[in-house]
Amino acid sequence: MADIAIRTRALTKTFPPKKRRLLEVVRREPKKPAFTALAGVDLDVERGELFGLLGPNGAGKTTLVKILSTLLLPTEGEATVSGLDVRRDAEEVRKRVGVVLGGDRALYWRLTARENLWYFSQLYDMPGAKAKKEIERVLAQVGLTDRADDRVENYSKGMKQRLHIARGLLTDPEILLLDEPTIGLDPHAGRSLRALVRKLVDEDHRTVILTTHYMYEADELSDRIGVLHKGKIIALDTSAGLKARYAKEKALVVRVKGDPAAAEAILRGEGDVRRVEGGLRLAGDLPQERISDIAARLAKAGVPLLGLQMEEPSLEDVFVALTGEGLVDAPPEGDDE
Ligand SMILES: Nc1ncnc2c1ncn2[C@@H]1O[C@H](COP(=O)(O)OP(=O)(O)O)[C@@H](O)[C@H]1O
Ligand SMILES: [Mg+2]
Repeated sequence: MADIAIRTRALTKTFPPKKRRLLEVVRREPKKPAFTALAGVDLDVERGELFGLLGPNGAGKTTLVKILSTLLLPTEGEATVSGLDVRRDAEEVRKRVGVVLGGDRALYWRLTARENLWYFSQLYDMPGAKAKKEIERVLAQVGLTDRADDRVENYSKGMKQRLHIARGLLTDPEILLLDEPTIGLDPHAGRSLRALVRKLVDEDHRTVILTTHYMYEADELSDRIGVLHKGKIIALDTSAGLKARYAKEKALVVRVKGDPAAAEAILRGEGDVRRVEGGLRLAGDLPQERISDIAARLAKAGVPLLGLQMEEPSLEDVFVALTGEGLVDAPPEGDDE
């Protein structure tokens, strides 16, 4: 049997309702209902795997990560880390788990990377000599040794995110939880961060759970993927397994520059069309003459085409097949300031 690093059973998290404002009370508006962020999650993550937890905004990813790192208590159900219960054995769990929350602003921008890590090591009560050694180790691991004495305010977003991960690695955790680590990074910084995460698993032999709402990221990076939707894991397998099961059909993917509306109007008449990252997707294994015909009509209408080709099913197709919802979210743009 596989060695299980993380296990949850019927894990549930309900947030109490927001308080009504005075005006709402006076107007006798009904009380707001409690919100169920996790609705019975069953999950087994094996030791040494890179597990991608994929889900749209609001799916419950951060809530799950916070429960697994003991930052939040579950409402019901079980969660164990290396067999330790997140409620009863919280302190032991914290020794084994490192967590890096997305959008975390907990770095001191006026301090250098080394000073930041020293500060955190002292929060963790690390003896001085050990702290110095660990700081050098984690700096090297995330590739920041050369810039370790620069102030964080001069760091790019990608470097700041590396420093967050270094902080998460300080206590040498078996398990690392990364909550949307590439959000807001430019494509290049995102790619290099993904390579770092992969290395933490392949060379450093840690177990990583990475949450993301980027389909291509989960696809490219994960050993296995759990699809989280409205607080439930609705599918769990390797990327290839998910595709084979839920999205067998090829599609014609039409990439256009700018607004895809004009191309969409033309493709609508052809069948099942959906917007995807960078363009449109027309379901079905189309013969070459039909593809040529579509290309000609798009060209005639003046649609600025960037590409037009048959593609294998994507993880996005899996998501749509499972939920009936699209998840169009282009890779982040912008500079690595
Ligand atoms: N402290 C809280 N109080 C009330 N609702 C919350 C709280 N934290 C999260 N939620 C709600 O729970 C749902 C899941 O949130 P979250 O776990 O942050 O999702 P994700 O990380 O996948 O975007 C969201 O609808 C969010 O608004
Ligand atoms: Mg989140």
